[in-house]
Order: sequence, then C-alpha cells, then structure tokens
Amino acid sequence: MNVYTVENLTKTYGEGGAKVTALNGVNLSVPENKFVAILGASGSGKSTLLNMLGCMDKPTGGTVRFYDTDITALSKRQMTAFRGGNIGFVFQSYNLLPDLTALENTEFSTELAGLPRKEAEKALEAVGLSGRMNHYPAELSGGEQQRVSIARAIAKNPKVLLCDEPTGALDFHTGVMVLEALVRIRREKHTSILLITHNQEIAKIADMVISLRSGEIVSVTENESPLAPSEVTW
Ligand SMILES: Nc1ncnc2c1ncn2[C@@H]1O[C@H](COP(=O)(O)OP(=O)(O)OP(=O)(O)O)[C@@H](O)[C@H]1O
Ligand SMILES: [Mg+2]
Repeated sequence: MNVYTVENLTKTYGEGGAKVTALNGVNLSVPENKFVAILGASGSGKSTLLNMLGCMDKPTGGTVRFYDTDITALSKRQMTAFRGGNIGFVFQSYNLLPDLTALENTEFSTELAGLPRKEAEKALEAVGLSGRMNHYPAELSGGEQQRVSIARAIAKNPKVLLCDEPTGALDFHTGVMVLEALVRIRREKHTSILLITHNQEIAKIADMVISLRSGEIVSVTENESPLAPSEVTW
C-alpha cells in the first residue's frame, strides 16, 4: 500500500512578476512504513511539498492521495479534521507550551484525539524521556525539547509523521539522539516517516531518498542498507 500517491502536483505563490513556482509537476509514490528523506537545497520546495502532504495548504494543481483519500479535494474544515486524525508534525522549532511540563505538553495531543492519558506517557517513553516527564521546556536541552515535540506528534498514533528539518537547530550529538528516536518509532509503531533535510549525510539513514531541485523531483532512490543514526556524522 502507498501512504501517498502524488500526481502532477504544482504550487505557485503570488501573481504576475512576483509569481514563484515552488512545485512544478511532482509525481511520487511513497510506500507505507518507510523512512523517507526529502533532500534538497534551500528554496527547492521541500517545505511546500510537506505542507501539501500534510494537508496544511492546497496545491495550485494536481492531486495528493493519502491511502484512498484525495486530500486535495477536502474543504478547509475537512483538512483540519483529517490532519488531526492521521498526520503528526515535527518542525525545526519545538513549539512547546512553556507553562506546561513535558507530560502536559504531550497530553495536550492525546486529549485532542480523545485518547487515554497513558498514551502520552508511552510516547515520552518511546523517545527516551521517561525520566523527564515533569520538567518544563526551559529545564530541558534542545534535543530533549525536540523529543517532547516528537512525543506530542506520535501520542495520537498518526499513520504518518512529517518532520521539517527536526535537527536543524541542534548540535550533532543531540541531533543523532533525535534521529534515533524517529528510527525507533518507525520500527516499533510502524509509522511512516518523511523527513526533510538539506544534509546528504542525514539522508543516509533513510530507506528512500527523494531529491528536489527547483520544485521538481530529480531522483528517487531506494537505499538497500540504511545507516544507523550513530553511524553518520555531519
Ligand atoms: N508563502 C509563500 N509565499 C511566497 N513564496 C513562497 C512561500 N512559501 C515558499 N515560497 C517560495 O517557494 C519556494 C520554495 O520554498 P520552500 O519553503 O518550499 O523551500 P525549502 O526547500 O523548504 O527551503 P528551506 O530549506 O530554506 O526551508 C521558494 O522560492 C520560496 O521563496
Ligand atoms: Mg523549508
């Protein structure tokens, strides 16, 4: 089964002289339960593509199917509901609520999804933070805060986790720990993971690497022997 089937996807921003073509006829099939890296230089369209896959924004043309659902045919309200039930997001900035502990930040997500609180604890355990549940964001390192944001994203059991440069603000060592948490989630929960990076080294941990240039896919490669996060350096 494919988690995503993308056909002739285009996205332009602005009009007239200010028009920017961010995606230009993207075709793509992403099998489920893979760790996929989306690789490309700044401005190549990575975040734009992730926004379309994440049901955050509407394309200018083309379709995106998530399993059997054409998500590009949904209304704004349906898009929000669809995201809530199916898609987890992790961004470069952690976006944690400063007045809530790690556990409370994560419970925020399980409550919205109508799931038991226990799921929040399990998600924090899955990212290796059982010992930090009652800490506030200001009491956590950058890597720990990012792992809380991953726990928050996975606590509602999404089918897919979309990550936009999750290690972009981290040093190498804490970045590796964040990537290890992602690899573990895919292995244990079979969540499909799509990870944006401009770093070719990080892309070596993926099963599949999609390379973008100027809004177009230039290659899709399967990686027969992905490296463990501890084996890559950048
Ligand atoms: N909201 C917007 N309005 C106008 N132009 C935009 C908007 N968002 C993105 N763009 C343009 O679309 C192109 C692709 O942007 P996008 O953010 O997808 O790139 P990216 O690959 O994620 O880059 P980066 O690695 O710097 O995050 C760029 O030329 C950018 O300037
Ligand atoms: Mg981006």
